[in-house]
Amino acid sequence: MSKKTKVGVLVSGHGTNLQAIIDQKIESCEIAVVISNKPDVYALKRAQNSGIQAMVINHKDFESREEFEKKLIECLDEKGVELVVLAGFMRVLTPLFVRHYKNRIINIHPALLPSFPGVHAARQALEYGVKYSGCTVHFVDDGVDTGPIILQSVVQIDQGDTEDTLLEKIHTEEHRIFPEAVRLFCEGKIQIEGRTVKIKD
Ligand code: GRF
Repeated sequence: MSKKTKVGVLVSGHGTNLQAIIDQKIESCEIAVVISNKPDVYALKRAQNSGIQAMVINHKDFESREEFEKKLIECLDEKGVELVVLAGFMRVLTPLFVRHYKNRIINIHPALLPSFPGVHAARQALEYGVKYSGCTVHFVDDGVDTGPIILQSVVQIDQGDTEDTLLEKIHTEEHRIFPEAVRLFCEGKIQIEGRTVKIKD
């Protein structure tokens, strides 16, 4: 196997997607660091349990988004991170960060983009009355949930679904396609052509 791609995972919460990526044991990927913007979140514990370096960079300790992001960049670059994975990272990133890692940041969103971007995507899908929703792995650009789409998976919405039951179905699919997207990136199989992502065999 050729050189592993160094991955930095940014988290803010429970970290089930981080766990899914860890559990997949992707040969081409080394998780070099996990960084949380919130202290005491369970995602940090998950990293530690797997022997991965876990750090807190609390956004509240910085005067501006840019100052916070400069610190993130410093830590990620120091670790040689080539791919930044947003696994439930609940801060919008500014162009400063996005341009530094252009086409090297991926995010998981709990809806079929471009429908229902932003927070509360599952609630909005239910309120809108769509019959199908799902999840999307996409590159991060300067907009909110607007970057080129890598993978999507569909779930059916049933009449009795609540926000919680819908999210449960979506999470199952997230845990399948997010590690898959990380693997494809680390194996160099992803090519961006304008808005379109091509996946090489
Ligand atoms: C996921 O639903 C993801 O779509 C959204 O944040 C949630 C993170 O969950 N961006 P977890 O922390 O990975 O459990």
